[in-house]
Amino acid sequence: MNPVLEARGVGKLYAPDVQALVDVDLAVAAGETVALIGESGSGKTTLLRMFNRGEQPSSGSVLVRGKDLAGSDPIELRRRTGYVQQDGGLLPHWTVERNVSLVPELLGWDAARRRERAGELLEQVGLDPAVHGPRYPASLSGGQRQRVAFARALAADPEVVLLDEPFGALDALTRAELQQEFLSLKERLGKTMLLVTHDLDEAFRLADRVAVLRGGRLVQVGEPQTLRAQPADPYVSALLQRAGVSS
Ligand SMILES: Nc1ncnc2c1ncn2[C@@H]1O[C@H](COP(=O)(O)OP(=O)(O)OP(=O)(O)O)[C@@H](O)[C@H]1O
Ligand SMILES: [Mg+2]
Repeated sequence: MNPVLEARGVGKLYAPDVQALVDVDLAVAAGETVALIGESGSGKTTLLRMFNRGEQPSSGSVLVRGKDLAGSDPIELRRRTGYVQQDGGLLPHWTVERNVSLVPELLGWDAARRRERAGELLEQVGLDPAVHGPRYPASLSGGQRQRVAFARALAADPEVVLLDEPFGALDALTRAELQQEFLSLKERLGKTMLLVTHDLDEAFRLADRVAVLRGGRLVQVGEPQTLRAQPADPYVSALLQRAGVSS
């Protein structure tokens, strides 16, 4: 495999007694979606943010397309990496259209091109640009805000998309609908994606491979059927049973 995203022996120490990641090895291939799953505090967001230099490793290295991120320009990296934050992270005083145009604006696209691209993306995620484009995030439902966050992450057609619990705060119906949307975008766009979730069932449905974090350590990485057939340890077995997805 010639990975697009790679963590090699990554450790993260926030404080002497807060070890968020311990010796994590993970590689994500081009066009692959890997789900990061684990309990609250297991290090999912920390690991995700390594790939856009939102965090720096305390040990080990993080590579994108084989290039070590240490010493790379974080701004340039973020411009070519889509990111859906844990809380959506839309700018409240910007309209939906401008939120979606954030990266194209940073890239210096002219207004007409930005507007056209924002309209295209809002349609792709199931929102009407004429209706929703001029509105502010506060006037949208939670599901609509997540759609806008998706659109924003895709705006500059990044190769890599990082998603932090994009369906976390939604009711079951909206969640199911957006998961469906996610799958169809995944098929159509073929991006390399890392998706954080604490829901194993969701991970199994949306990802090609699933990586299980526990206390900052990766305990297993594999395809859903591999986890089902050969859970690495009793922790993974228990996780599967609780989610009702064990074989
Ligand atoms: N900026 C920070 N400073 C100090 N400790 C931090 C910081 N960010 C995270 N941590 C700690 O690192 C550990 C991992 O946090 P992280 O946010 O990566 O977990 P998570 O798996 O994303 O959890 P959740 O499911 O609740 O979002 C936790 O113990 C957390 O308290
Ligand atoms: Mg998190």
